[in-house]
Amino acid sequence: MKKPLHPATIAAHAAGALDPQSGGVVPALQPSTTFLRDENYALVRPDNIYSRDNSDNMRQAEAVIRALENAQDTLLFPSGMAAIAAVFRALPNRATAIVQSGIYWGTTAWVREFCARREITLIEVPAADLVMTCQTRPADLVLIETPSNPWLLTVDIAAVKAATQGVLLVDGTAATPILTRALDHGADIVMHSATKGINGHSDVLAGVLSTAAPDAGVWQAIKADRKMAGAILGPFEAWLLTRAMRTLPLRVERMSQNALALAQHLMAHDAVADAFYPGLPHHQGHDIALRQMQGGFGSLLSVLVKGGRDDALRVTGKLALFLRATSLGGVESLVEHRYTIEPHTGIPENLIRVSAGIEHIDDLIADWDQALA
Ligand SMILES: Cc1ncc(COP(=O)(O)O)c(C=O)c1O
Repeated sequence: MKKPLHPATIAAHAAGALDPQSGGVVPALQPSTTFLRDENYALVRPDNIYSRDNSDNMRQAEAVIRALENAQDTLLFPSGMAAIAAVFRALPNRATAIVQSGIYWGTTAWVREFCARREITLIEVPAADLVMTCQTRPADLVLIETPSNPWLLTVDIAAVKAATQGVLLVDGTAATPILTRALDHGADIVMHSATKGINGHSDVLAGVLSTAAPDAGVWQAIKADRKMAGAILGPFEAWLLTRAMRTLPLRVERMSQNALALAQHLMAHDAVADAFYPGLPHHQGHDIALRQMQGGFGSLLSVLVKGGRDDALRVTGKLALFLRATSLGGVESLVEHRYTIEPHTGIPENLIRVSAGIEHIDDLIADWDQALA
């Protein structure tokens, strides 16, 4: 048996994607929507018919993620939400879904609306109660997000898997496949908003699902739905994604170092009331993170500044390097005042969500120090 390659090697080589036609060491971008048949009406390339079914560029990007996830099959979607929606659409009407509460608000909002429309019983449960609820309530699907956005709570994937008969879907966006391979911990399907760390350059919107059990009914349903309903990623986005993922392990390593150093610095700052980060020993779920994440704790953290809404907004307004914009996982550091986006969800008014980029840590800390001063 050949030794499996390390993620850094898989990523740098884009899982072996080359351009055999030109001899190029990077794959060509092929934008064609339709593909030729010969004079006998046989397809010139039997795997290429029409680009709503598939395309070389999408297959290349999927191969990289499949290898990084230790998965058997991987499907790209045009956004993270399209990937989540694809799993929920595979549920029968009147199914039961258990969903972690306090996760990315966009997911919660869509899932609520969809479940109501399809008469699906939706049970929303805080991270700490997931295992107990899964033990007592049979469910067709369980969705967890670890670490969660923006509370950074970690959930024990293996413990939830052991507690349910349902399909376990893990949103691992904040961890990326570099820090947590959710399938190895027992997830049936792992999902990422590839818009975030996987692409990492804030210039591609994409989502991805991977599984270790491609023959499972739910996966077959998802696959058929993508092909027929057409939630497909365009070849240029797939090509950009393949390009970006060559540096994914490097970016994640630097971002995780920066996020941890910033979290530790801010935690000790007089103007900060608390910091949420899986790498901080006092944080809920630090012990799970130590077991479940390897090589770092990710780029995302949240900070409670002392004071209220106006104080938090004043700090974000004074930051010069941290761009005031939503999203996370890009090479440039970002901040967001989540209360402005979701004032009705119980988010503290003084919470600032931070996505640490790959800049020099001294510059990032100096920026926060001047903003908090
Ligand atoms: C944890 C998480 N899941 C899913 C999504 C949705 O992904 P997208 O914006 O690519 O649709 C986001 C977006 O912020 C996210 O943070």
